[in-house]
Amino acid sequence: MIINSARFLISSPSADKCPTDTPRHEYAFIGRSNVGKSSLINMLTGQKSLAMTSATPGKTMLINYFLVNDSWYIVDLPGYGYAKRSKEDRNRLERMIKDYILNREQMTNLFVLIDVRHKPQAIDMEFMEWLGENGVPFSIVFTKADKLSSAAVKAQVAAYCSELLATWEELPPVFVSSSEDKRGRDGILTYIEELNRLPLESVK
Ligand code: GTP
Ligand code: MG
Repeated sequence: MIINSARFLISSPSADKCPTDTPRHEYAFIGRSNVGKSSLINMLTGQKSLAMTSATPGKTMLINYFLVNDSWYIVDLPGYGYAKRSKEDRNRLERMIKDYILNREQMTNLFVLIDVRHKPQAIDMEFMEWLGENGVPFSIVFTKADKLSSAAVKAQVAAYCSELLATWEELPPVFVSSSEDKRGRDGILTYIEELNRLPLESVK
């Protein structure tokens, strides 16, 4: 898919303040703080500073909407599991994220980002289990693939997938990406393009 335009639309503090104009397909990006959500959004849209990125974790605190090709939305969600946040902030963000995921019917797919360098972490596994229990359509994007050799990326992804298969009957779609060298861009955009063809009523 060719990206002709992408622009920031609105930051919502809660699911009930998200856009209520014409329902459009929307794709949300989630994962641990600092995993590379905002960077991936910039890489996909081809705009270096569309979503705010930072070396300091916990930068994204709101539900940020971007309108792409004047027809569908990308949603940048706050990261979960950032230990240095106050308990109150963490609880508030967790409620906000879960509320968004469970109630936003036009969310066609949730991309769950995992840093390819790390072993499976309980927080991500539990989050994906929660998605499964609630019937939320999701796929996995391994990020920061430029930080490992291609053999190491392959081994990490294979180990992660086999751990998933210990509890899941089948794997969701899996992508490998790098915001640095743009790996994964075509695969993710083609997947979105296919989902965009589905009637909105059928996505949930
Ligand atoms: P929060 O909004 O704080 O939850 O973080 P985030 O998940 O949006 O991460 P962000 O995109 O801000 O990136 C965090 C850090 O990782 C930044 O310093 C990025 O430059 C770096 N980073 C993100 N993606 C990649 C990647 O693919 N390769 C490399 N080498 N660095 C990356
Ligand atoms: Mg971010």
